[in-house]
Amino acid sequence: QGQQEPHYPAATGQKRSRNDAGNKVTVVLGAQWGDEGKGKVVDLLATEADFVCRCQGGNNAGHTVVVDGKEYDFHLLPSGIINPKSVSLIGNGVVIHLPGLFEEGDKNEKKGLKGWEKRLIVSDRAHLVFDFHQVVDGLQETERQAQEGKNIGTTKKGIGPAYSSKASRTGLRVCDLLGDFKDFSTRFKNLVRQYQSMYPSLTVDVEDQLKKLKEYSERLRPMVRDGVYYMYEALHGPPKKILVEGANAALLDIDFGTYPFVTSSNCTVGGACTGLGIPPLNIGDVFGVAKAYTTRVGIGAFPTEQLNAVGELLQTRGHEVGVTTGRKRRCGWLDLVIVRYAHMINGFTAIALTKLDILDVLDEIKVGVAYKLNGKRIPHFPANMDVLQKVEVEYETFPGWKTDTSAARKWNDLPAKAQNYIRFIENHIGVPIKWVGVGKSRECMIQMF
Ligand code: GDP
Ligand code: IMO
Ligand code: MG
Repeated sequence: QGQQEPHYPAATGQKRSRNDAGNKVTVVLGAQWGDEGKGKVVDLLATEADFVCRCQGGNNAGHTVVVDGKEYDFHLLPSGIINPKSVSLIGNGVVIHLPGLFEEGDKNEKKGLKGWEKRLIVSDRAHLVFDFHQVVDGLQETERQAQEGKNIGTTKKGIGPAYSSKASRTGLRVCDLLGDFKDFSTRFKNLVRQYQSMYPSLTVDVEDQLKKLKEYSERLRPMVRDGVYYMYEALHGPPKKILVEGANAALLDIDFGTYPFVTSSNCTVGGACTGLGIPPLNIGDVFGVAKAYTTRVGIGAFPTEQLNAVGELLQTRGHEVGVTTGRKRRCGWLDLVIVRYAHMINGFTAIALTKLDILDVLDEIKVGVAYKLNGKRIPHFPANMDVLQKVEVEYETFPGWKTDTSAARKWNDLPAKAQNYIRFIENHIGVPIKWVGVGKSRECMIQMF
């Protein structure tokens, strides 16, 4: 690919210090069940970033960015693609549906996003999501419903099946698509056959698929790099600001989330290393994004869910509708047990608390602070979903501020009761709140320090 020899620093015979590791990467992660406003936080930081990288997930993500009154939604493209001065990178940990990627780019181009293909770099180690993975996603959901009486409520973007192919070592990667196409075609056919033996109703027009994939591969080729080498260069060259945009969120993490009602990748901090091929020493700030209340799309336990007028108010005022699937999001009070749990795993250096403005009209606001089982507080977040379904939430109640906060631009503009709410959250999680969101657009973000 015309790359030069990497510059490996000479070993000095001394132990390396953290400071010798090269540039630091700032990671932005969801601290709840997704849709916390990661896109908006990334957009804020991306104005100064040289690189914005996605490290996991696929187009199951839906990240909204509002700039100059124009609303963009990104699924596979890093939200930083808006910034003409930064490079966007899709790392090896991401699963890529090529029709989805180009559709998304073309759609945003119509909205005014220019030159995105020139700013996008794709790792050759990233796995591909095929159309049949998406069909299988739907078939698996139907099967779950029939066998267990409940599905997961996936986005049907083929995420689970594509990561399954990856883990079972039959998946196909970007480098395979760009390599010997005959070999790729054979492996593609084998993969189709494998799925057809599991799902006899699955029909795939193999020749048509291969023809389309060949076309996509030529459009993709100029963007493809060895992701590990590319990141190494970015980390060890001149000072650069590198941002990682987490997709999905801690409680949807395949290892730490509310399994099995989760997605199929690591949406916690480890995913930044494995999904980009970067050492942990290069991880700098880890920003957790949390909404001032809680939402969840899809099925699964949700201890602070409010199936009442409060939940409905949060849903309508917060416009809580999925960006990817258009489903209504389930809503409830802020649950600090889950945010603290996300912090245990991610080690947040600061939090962005978004959508405070949605709470402006409430008479009183509750915050879940602990879980009880059989009347006793439990110190951990339960792994078992039957247990999580049974926990009783202990709440702290705050008086509402009943004031419009959407015009607030600094801490002192916020009503004392809102300040009190924010300080309580900060103390309870034990992580400073760096930003408070009071509206959709870029300028509606109060920076605290
Ligand atoms: P993501 O998946 O974490 O990037 O979040 P989504 O984009 O799916 O959902 C967040 C929604 O909240 C989007 O519609 C944002 O425009 C909106 N949003 C983000 N921050 C704020 C905020 O502080 N106040 C309000 N009112 N809306 C916000
Ligand atoms: P962002 O990045 C909210 C949920 C789905 C479903 C489960 C599994 O916008 O925060 P999948 O299609 O991944 O196999 O679905 O995970 N889910 C999300 N919910 N926001 C997301 O992404 C999500 N990504 C996946 O609703 O319950
Ligand atoms: Mg979203």
